[in-house]
Amino acid sequence: MEIKGSTNIVGLIGHPVEHSFSPPMHNAAFMKLGMDYVYTAFDVNPNNLKEAIDGACALNIKGFNVTIPHKIEVMKYLAEIDEIASLIGAVNTIDFKDLKGYNTDGIGAIKAIGEVTNVKNKNIVIAGAGGASRAISFYLAKYGAENITILNRNVDKAQRLALDVLSSGLIDNVESNSIDSMDLANADILINTTPVGMHPNVDDTPIALASDMHEDLVVFDAVYNPNETGLLKEAIKAGAKPIYGIKMLLYQGAESFEIWTGKKAPIDAMEEALIKTLGL
Ligand code: ATR
Repeated sequence: MEIKGSTNIVGLIGHPVEHSFSPPMHNAAFMKLGMDYVYTAFDVNPNNLKEAIDGACALNIKGFNVTIPHKIEVMKYLAEIDEIASLIGAVNTIDFKDLKGYNTDGIGAIKAIGEVTNVKNKNIVIAGAGGASRAISFYLAKYGAENITILNRNVDKAQRLALDVLSSGLIDNVESNSIDSMDLANADILINTTPVGMHPNVDDTPIALASDMHEDLVVFDAVYNPNETGLLKEAIKAGAKPIYGIKMLLYQGAESFEIWTGKKAPIDAMEEALIKTLGL
């Protein structure tokens, strides 16, 4: 890739950013399509967030991804927030054409699951009630899930999230309960958003075992390190369909790419770069 006077800049803001997988993934996409763009990462101290957004506008930067700790705070410096991002209350993508914020994390999960099934009219159990669960739950509601059961260690938190999703009016059935009370007998899809099973705790007991699962279940684990978590191993043992966490990274990136460029993301090139970067 040749950087020229005409090269368009997109990038990531966060704190820290040096371990991000996004620069190689997006640069592979630009290279594949021969686009005059470069993606880089900016470590932005929280005290300088407003200046970073103003500066990006002044420098004619085309787009940002936004990661921890700026996803919520950054919203107050934007001109417009996409409807679902506004319900989620967090933004991970900015399009500087109109200084508009989006949240592509949740759609990343929907599209990952979409490789094997559709969430419409499905009965979905989601473990965890933090930021990832929140982003995914609103998108599940938007894409027509029949029922969402949010399970969490801290049940109050699950209950609050369930109420928020219900009050969006996008779905009629959202329940909450303790993560210990998981029952997958009537579930079509299980989604894990907790860090259980994440490196280095790869041998921790998964949130569900093969004996809890059935063959028609789809199991998506948002944990991508390791690639095949204990939970996904259990899913395979049960004859259920596993969906790997890397797919969510891939599709959230693809969605951001499409927002910035208006072009269809080259999924294969992005996935290849992601696999290489993560050493999978
Ligand atoms: P993220 O942005 O990835 O969702 P988060 O907002 O910190 O991260 O949320 C982490 C979620 O994983 C929470 O729902 C947390 O449960 P609590 O609210 O009870 O803390 C859940 N979690 C973290 N460690 C866990 C563990 N060891 N067992 C079960 N759930 C866990």
